[in-house]
Amino acid sequence: MSKKIGILTGGGDCAGLNAVIASIVKTGLPRGHEFIGFHKSWEGVLSPLMYQKLDLDSVRGISHLGGTILGTTNHGRFAGKVGDGVASVIPEAVLEEARANVQSLGLDGLIVIGGDGTLSAALQLAERGVPIIGVPKTIDNDLMGTDMTFGYNTAVNVAVEALDKIHTTASSHDRVFFVECMGRHAGWIALSSGLAANVNAILLPEFEVNIPNLIAFLEKRTSSRGSAIVAVAEGIRLPQFVSGTNGISAASENSLAGVSNQLMAQIEAVVPGKFEMRNVVLGHTQRGGTPSADDRILAKRYGVAALEAFEQEKFGDMVRLRNGAMETVSIAEATGELKRVTADNYLVHTAKSLGVFING
Ligand code: F6P
Repeated sequence: MSKKIGILTGGGDCAGLNAVIASIVKTGLPRGHEFIGFHKSWEGVLSPLMYQKLDLDSVRGISHLGGTILGTTNHGRFAGKVGDGVASVIPEAVLEEARANVQSLGLDGLIVIGGDGTLSAALQLAERGVPIIGVPKTIDNDLMGTDMTFGYNTAVNVAVEALDKIHTTASSHDRVFFVECMGRHAGWIALSSGLAANVNAILLPEFEVNIPNLIAFLEKRTSSRGSAIVAVAEGIRLPQFVSGTNGISAASENSLAGVSNQLMAQIEAVVPGKFEMRNVVLGHTQRGGTPSADDRILAKRYGVAALEAFEQEKFGDMVRLRNGAMETVSIAEATGELKRVTADNYLVHTAKSLGVFING
């Protein structure tokens, strides 16, 4: 039976979103389904409605492009998470407006592509009877409910390319470089890219940063090799660092960029003039640009799996990658817990065995 399906992308953008959209539509059109795409995440589902018809022309030639043709936002009237794991309760009137709009557009349901926050919001709408299939997305790769999210591989590649470049300038000047990667609650990008790019130290948000221990390591490293490179996850926990003090916003999704400045200042305060330090904040370069081949393939798999899950009426579920296969899991279960780096993780073990300093 042909269905009319709404698609939206929510949360921070990442490489691969367009490939998911295109593969849902390209799989569904020949099977008789119709699609509309809401603009700006949940905002498009609320008044004033913002959406477009998605036909073959609208999704042709977009799979290799970064960003999302539908636009997105990680805040607004439908913000689903406030900070680390805490779900915000969306006002009843807002949920009812979204439900009524979905109904008045004659939609049979929604495919929602987003991270923790977007999917937590989706869950609240699903609980009010809107048929929803979720597709997981985050460059941080910190959703417990799936083995891998698209966008992560591209972000790691961007960070590796940058770290590779830093090696030559760091060693030419005998400098200590802090290269700040994204990773709000989990340090997977810093860990993987740091390991791949042969950095000397990796700092993760999962564990406290012990400044004296880090200084001791850097002293040893620079006295023998001159330079050092430290991959820093933006969410690291520093003593005396108040998140949000970079002046951008004290709101829940405040920009964390700049923690490496604080780190350098704290090191300088303990050992003034000891190291010539510089930092690089990779920021949104990790989210933008062309998706890697791996991310394109993963995104296409998610798109096909989401359409199939919709046809099978697995509403309230999210498609996920588990042990190499696509399957579904309830959104409630998938968004309940974040996937963090643990001290016994195989990447941590590998890096430590190779002499990399890790704060955990
Ligand atoms: O959650 C994904 C993420 O890229 C985080 O790594 C980062 O802290 C955050 O989004 C940045 O969000 P914004 O685009 O609002 O600066």
